[in-house]
Amino acid sequence: MSAEILHDVRVAPSILAADFARLGEQVAEVMDAGARVIHVDVMDGHFVPPISIGALVVDALRDQVHGAGGVLDVHLMVERPERRIEDFAAAGADSIIVHWEATPHVHYALKAVREAGLHAGLALNPATPVEVAAGLAGALDHVLCMTVNPGWGGQPYIEGSGERVARLRELLGPDVPIEVDGGIDAATAAECAAAGATLFVAGSSIFGSGDPAGAYRDIAAAAGAA
Ligand code: DX5
Ligand code: ZN
Repeated sequence: MSAEILHDVRVAPSILAADFARLGEQVAEVMDAGARVIHVDVMDGHFVPPISIGALVVDALRDQVHGAGGVLDVHLMVERPERRIEDFAAAGADSIIVHWEATPHVHYALKAVREAGLHAGLALNPATPVEVAAGLAGALDHVLCMTVNPGWGGQPYIEGSGERVARLRELLGPDVPIEVDGGIDAATAAECAAAGATLFVAGSSIFGSGDPAGAYRDIAAAAGAA
């Protein structure tokens, strides 16, 4: 499956907020509404306090998501992510996002993602200067700008995040996808889109609503997404 779709303007539902007892159904619901990027949040209990899910869940979704023309965007909130890339690539990830703060070897980690044939994303925590992305521009395929602190769904968007996105857009030029993650709903998606974001992760605003398909369409419309 081609990760080219990550160069479109897209809303990426985060399954962290889904009902795991009926995960397949929930993914089908947002894909029927138009979603083609499914965001998977992997947490190890070290880099962030909670433990969430691992490669097994990526593998469980791969046929469904790829069969419907979508991609699995895997956000590794784990220490030393370079040690996990092989597993997630084998499980069916299309994109792997590693945190700048999670390893002293972030350039190596990004390179390992590309060598596995996948789209390499660099995530930055809210306190990390966005300028670090410029030094890695040749080694990455997209940047994920955290708009909350990583580790939990349902947190409020950190005000001022739009300025970080705008600065990233200046640093990276027009062609590098910029993903925003945390507290994204129709209003914050519109703010981030105006600042230059192109991928919009949304968990609780989609799966926590009574109508995930409708919520997906509202956020996509606000973001100017397909
Ligand atoms: C937070 C995760 C997010 C999370 C977003 O650490 O990276 O992807 O699912 O959840 P919401 O959209 O509820 O803020
Ligand atoms: Zn995420």
